[in-house]
Amino acid sequence: MNIPVITIDGPTASGKGTVAQILAGKLHFHYLDSGALYRLTALSVMRSGINPDDTGQIASIASSLPCHFEKQRIFLEKEEVTDAIRTEAIGNMASKIAAFPVVRRALINLQTGFRKAPGLVADGRDMGTVVFPDAELKIFLTASVDVRAERRYKQLLEKGISDNMDSLRRDLIERDRRDTERKEAPLVPAVDAVTLDSSVMSIDETVERIFRLFVQKSNNC
Ligand code: DC
Repeated sequence: MNIPVITIDGPTASGKGTVAQILAGKLHFHYLDSGALYRLTALSVMRSGINPDDTGQIASIASSLPCHFEKQRIFLEKEEVTDAIRTEAIGNMASKIAAFPVVRRALINLQTGFRKAPGLVADGRDMGTVVFPDAELKIFLTASVDVRAERRYKQLLEKGISDNMDSLRRDLIERDRRDTERKEAPLVPAVDAVTLDSSVMSIDETVERIFRLFVQKSNNC
């Protein structure tokens, strides 16, 4: 049986994580936050003190990440790291190590393992282009830089992390540039993706649009 997958790719703070989680709940599908896997790898690398350019060692960490997910909580071994992986420092390190092809390959099996019945909603940068190229529905979710910087600022504040708006905006632009320009699995819409702009839609409207697109697609099969 072909297990359906909906992929939602897009730049930092485009709202893809929130949209993907609500959509997964609505469809009773599993949910993959692929960015969390790169962030978990980054956290492990930073803690282990290994050279952040030692691609072999980083790939070895990535290929055997002792992580598990419990609903919205994320664990590394027994420690809950749900908030610890959300800092800008970890996000930037995740983006750096994500440019190493050997690290990306080391995380493939972990990601495809999330594809379980009755279905999966996966968010990230290369879900529709590389990890699930046969996905039923592919969404590329964008939003303006200003909207995204403001969202990220509010998200961090809610988590008790305060940051400077200007440096946040600069980091975001730099991270997008790195994610988009890297050679391996760059952030680009899949040729068969539907592009949606979340600056002009609420979270609920975005979820509803994707839900209806998925129902339409499923009815046409
Ligand atoms: O979605 P996020 O901000 O949690 O992702 C953190 C970084 O991980 C992002 O800047 C690039 C990398 N990433 C990736 O290269 N491929 C993915 N599928 C998901 C994230």
